[in-house]
Parts: sequence; structure tokens; C-alpha cells
Amino acid sequence: MWRDDAPTPGILLELERVSVSYGGIRALSDVSLVVPEGCVVALLGPNGAGKTTTLRVISGLARADGGWLRFGGRSIGRLVPHAISRLGIVHVPEGRGIFPSLNVAENLSMATYGGGTGNPDVVVDQAVALFPVLGARLGQQAGTLSGGEQQMLALARAFVARPRLLMLDEISMGLAPLVTAQLFDAIRRGAAAGISMLLVEQYVDAALELADYGYVLEKGRIVDMGEPADLRTSAALTAAYLGAGR
Ligand SMILES: Nc1ncnc2c1ncn2[C@@H]1O[C@H](COP(=O)(O)OP(=O)(O)O)[C@@H](O)[C@H]1O
Ligand SMILES: [Mg+2]
Repeated sequence: MWRDDAPTPGILLELERVSVSYGGIRALSDVSLVVPEGCVVALLGPNGAGKTTTLRVISGLARADGGWLRFGGRSIGRLVPHAISRLGIVHVPEGRGIFPSLNVAENLSMATYGGGTGNPDVVVDQAVALFPVLGARLGQQAGTLSGGEQQMLALARAFVARPRLLMLDEISMGLAPLVTAQLFDAIRRGAAAGISMLLVEQYVDAALELADYGYVLEKGRIVDMGEPADLRTSAALTAAYLGAGR
């Protein structure tokens, strides 16, 4: 059993044999993974593998029924989502990670996870520096932006919140390659700036290009893990994606 007062040096997030069920059906079984400080960790696997559930259990939106979760040496398995976000975990969920009825500037000004410590003007400037296209749309209702612009806004909001851990769930879903490339570019710059990330991404090659390490999930279990060079030739990774088509 882990103790709260014994953080592992250099390790930001640790999951130890975490299991999650939805109404008696297992979605995650004994998932163990770590995100070291300053690293990008990719979570790969086909639809239904449990990637989203993994992010949700970390941010407190799903409950583990077994195992332990620690962030910065502290046990987080029993914290409510609000308390977890205050620790610096920012989760950009599947689909829209924005407030559609607020305008772009309002969305950005709500970006600080600590509860209103950021100066809204600074935050907007930083976001526009990241994605200049947002600059012309500060007064526009976020729900009326294109899909790509909405994800730029979601990503900009996440970055300017200065997260200790950023979790991204398939932000390229349904977007054109050119837009996706812009989003990946921003992720790359965030990584270079030292933001620790847990990255769920449908484009396996792109995810492995950005990541320092990766885990492969299949049917709720980790079936392989390793550095990108090793995972590119992973039989388990190929089998997981092929198996999903059956
Ligand atoms: N809210 C839910 N209620 C019941 N089952 C769910 C729920 N969310 C996910 N699941 C199931 O849990 C499994 C993992 O889903 P998910 O974590 O969304 O996978 P992924 O993100 O890898 O596609 C799937 O079998 C899915 O059907
Ligand atoms: Mg998912």
C-alpha cells in the first residue's frame, strides 16, 4: 500500500493496478502506468480499449473500484474532480472542451485551474500567440467556431492554465489534416516548454512522434509499453488495432 508522504522522485502521476467498472462491466483492469515530470506519455489502443476511462478516472470523473492513483506523491483516488483540477490536472475531454455559449475571450479568461489567479489580458495574449486565428474571434460565441477553431480554443485554454499535467483526449477527432497539424505543432511546443502530458490520439504515428513513452491498451488492459521506437514495431500494438475490427 502506498503512503501519501512518500512521493517517487521525478514521477508526477502513478496509477497502480487501477480498475474501473460501469454498472458491473469492467472497462479497466489492473492498469498501471506512470507519467514522469516533463514527459509526454501516449495512451494508445483501439475504440473501446479504455483510453477515455483512464483519463476520466485520473480526473475523478470515474471511480476506481480497485488500485491506487497518486499525483505528485499524493493519493487522489478519493478526491472530487474539482479538487483534482485544483492540483493542476487539466483534462481536455473528447468532443468539445469549451463553453459553447460563452465567447472566445470569456472561455480563455476561465482558463486558470487554481481559481481566477490569471490576468485575463495576459491569458488572451498568450492564447492568441499560440493560435493567431483566435485573435480575430475573441468576441465570437465559441459554439459557432469551426471544429478546428474550437479545438484550438480548448488547447489554448489548457495551455494558458499552466497545468502540471495536461490530458488530451483525441483532440484531432474529425478534423482536417492541416488543422490537426497545427494542433500537433502546439502540443509539440507545449512539450518543449516542459508541460507533462498524457496524450490520447487516434493517429498512432503522430502520437509516437510527440511522446517520450507509450502504453497500449486493449480491452481495458495494458498489453504493451515502451519507447516510441519499440512501440512502432510492437506486435501487440498492431494486434490491438487489427483485433478491434473484428
Ligand atoms: N458511461 C459508460 N457507461 C457504460 N460503459 C461505458 C461508459 N463509458 C465507457 N464505457 C465502456 O467502457 C469501455 C471503454 O470505453 P472508453 O474508455 O470510452 O474507450 P476508448 O476511449 O479507448 O474508446 C468500452 O467498452 C465502453 O463501451
Ligand atoms: Mg475515447
